[in-house]
Amino acid sequence: MLTSESVRVFAPATLSNLGPGFDVLGLAVEQPGDYVTAEWSDTPGVEIVEVRGDGGQLTTDPARNVVGIAAAAMLRSYDSRVPEHRPPGVRLWLDKRMPLASGLGSSAASSVGGALAVAELLGGVTQDELIACALQGERAVSGSIHADNVAPCVAGGIVLIRSYNPLEVLSLPVPDELRVAVVHPHTAVVTAEARRLVAERRFEIAQAVANLGQLGALVTALHRSDLKLLGRSISDALVEPVRAPLVPGFSEVKQTALEAGAIGCSLSGSGPSVFAFAQSDDQVEALADRMATRFQDVAGLESDSYVGKINVRGAHRVAEE
Ligand code: HSE
Repeated sequence: MLTSESVRVFAPATLSNLGPGFDVLGLAVEQPGDYVTAEWSDTPGVEIVEVRGDGGQLTTDPARNVVGIAAAAMLRSYDSRVPEHRPPGVRLWLDKRMPLASGLGSSAASSVGGALAVAELLGGVTQDELIACALQGERAVSGSIHADNVAPCVAGGIVLIRSYNPLEVLSLPVPDELRVAVVHPHTAVVTAEARRLVAERRFEIAQAVANLGQLGALVTALHRSDLKLLGRSISDALVEPVRAPLVPGFSEVKQTALEAGAIGCSLSGSGPSVFAFAQSDDQVEALADRMATRFQDVAGLESDSYVGKINVRGAHRVAEE
């Protein structure tokens, strides 16, 4: 059933890779995230009325902004199913409440927000359809398909991408006591460039073997709620060493987090954000403070920090402001 009023959705930030799981592991956090509002329009296609919170960095051209690309993909996917009486277009408002080029899945959040807002106007779609449409936005900015931000943003929780062709996303158990600290130092890493660095690298089989073992152990740890094993598994022999030099102070911040009792620490996606797992609210607050202070001390970088539980709900409709 089509919805006539405007709808507003929230799409959370996501941490991807989680150490050994390049392009196959990701999780959603409670905050930050993007808000997207959509309403039907008599003008065909997608119009982006306004983008807020981006510091003027993003275009309102719907063909060049992921929120517009994903929304258009969702409209197209419905063309064959809802031919009757549907208005020909949508108007969108994107309210970015998270930093760009931060390793927090900013483009994924906007893509999911655009696709979900249109889906809500259309009366709802399946999780797989939502992921497929949002991935079209994500591909436009990263230059390749990777679902480890989009999938947890849609599904919530911690997910594993078992296969890309066909896409198969598995939800993993989330231990109750698991908390995450994310520290975003004020420097930018462009995902497409960070991916090129990885793509150009030749790896040894021993590095792949190391990551295979850690990835299997990480999944096992989540099934057992074994946080010690989870911590030992946050280890990446492939990608983290290649990208660490892109983030000034990363090695020192990681060392500080581990010395302060973090259950594992690594880059979030392509960085520069760094995440650390903890097992209590007090511990996670203290970790974030120590990590942010270390970024300031060793690299002169101010940071924003986010702490909390894993977001098991994922993107969802919210009340109008
Ligand atoms: N898995 C992707 C990467 C995530 O590390 O390039 C990018 O946010």
